[in-house]
Amino acid sequence: MAETFATPCAETALGAQGAHPILSVRQIEKVYGSRDSITHAINDISFDVMPGEFVGIMGPSGSGKTTLLNCVATIDTATSGHILVDGRDITTLRSRALARFRRDDLGFIFQDSNLLDTLTGFENIALALTIKGERTSSVRAKVEQVAAVLGVSEVLGKYPRQMSGGQRQRVAAARAMVTDPKLVLADEPTGSLDSRSASVMLDTLSMMNKRLGATIMMVTHDSFAASFANRILFIKDGAVFNEVLKGGLSRAEFFNRIMEVVTFLGGDVRDAC
Ligand SMILES: Nc1ncnc2c1ncn2[C@@H]1O[C@H](COP(=O)(O)OP(=O)(O)O)[C@@H](O)[C@H]1O
Ligand SMILES: [Mg+2]
Repeated sequence: MAETFATPCAETALGAQGAHPILSVRQIEKVYGSRDSITHAINDISFDVMPGEFVGIMGPSGSGKTTLLNCVATIDTATSGHILVDGRDITTLRSRALARFRRDDLGFIFQDSNLLDTLTGFENIALALTIKGERTSSVRAKVEQVAAVLGVSEVLGKYPRQMSGGQRQRVAAARAMVTDPKLVLADEPTGSLDSRSASVMLDTLSMMNKRLGATIMMVTHDSFAASFANRILFIKDGAVFNEVLKGGLSRAEFFNRIMEVVTFLGGDVRDAC
């Protein structure tokens, strides 16, 4: 079972008192290289994410955001420390268990929708369930349900090239959600998008969080994107140095609050805006 760790973050999360964290990051350290060229990508990071939270990770380029996300995604391994997902320590899993963990417990949102061109919307969304060996009738029901919530029912029979950019993003979101993952991970999901596509992406993430109850961890250096989250952890030099909660603020007010922090921090974190 989960070890319990008392942290300030655990108390600030979404009023879920008594609930246990979906994600617990405990004293993660990540060192790249050896001897002559050592990079401390992450020094000592600890935080919790409670069920139903939408957490933004912000920080300047090179601050360790992607490294942190990749460690949670088990794409990379931490040099020391522990990461618990729903109480299970994923830093000790072996390859088969890791593959199962990624398949069953995680959802990924990429910058580009990353849909397979030769599969229809339905087939793209269904793929993760098919791989798990789910029965055809249950696959159909799950795909149709998540597609309805995300507003892509009418494009299930279309191929990605026949969809608009926004529809492709929402189909990709449906694909990430259909397995009912414990945690959805997104690294700079708006990074290479024009402002209209970025808004669609952020609205989709918001919908996943509010209507499908997804717990989301999103890495971004963009204050506008961050303002869609409920809580922001600011990372600098591989460590958490600030936390901002949305609380009762409107999105616009939260955006201003984030900008204040980014401006206050100034100097070498300017590119966090
Ligand atoms: N595979 C790697 N090998 C060596 N250094 C790396 C590697 N990946 C990242 N780094 C270094 O770790 C630090 C954090 O990188 P990263 O997590 O990508 O930052 P961010 O996503 O915040 O821009 C940077 O100094 C980067 O150069
Ligand atoms: Mg990055």
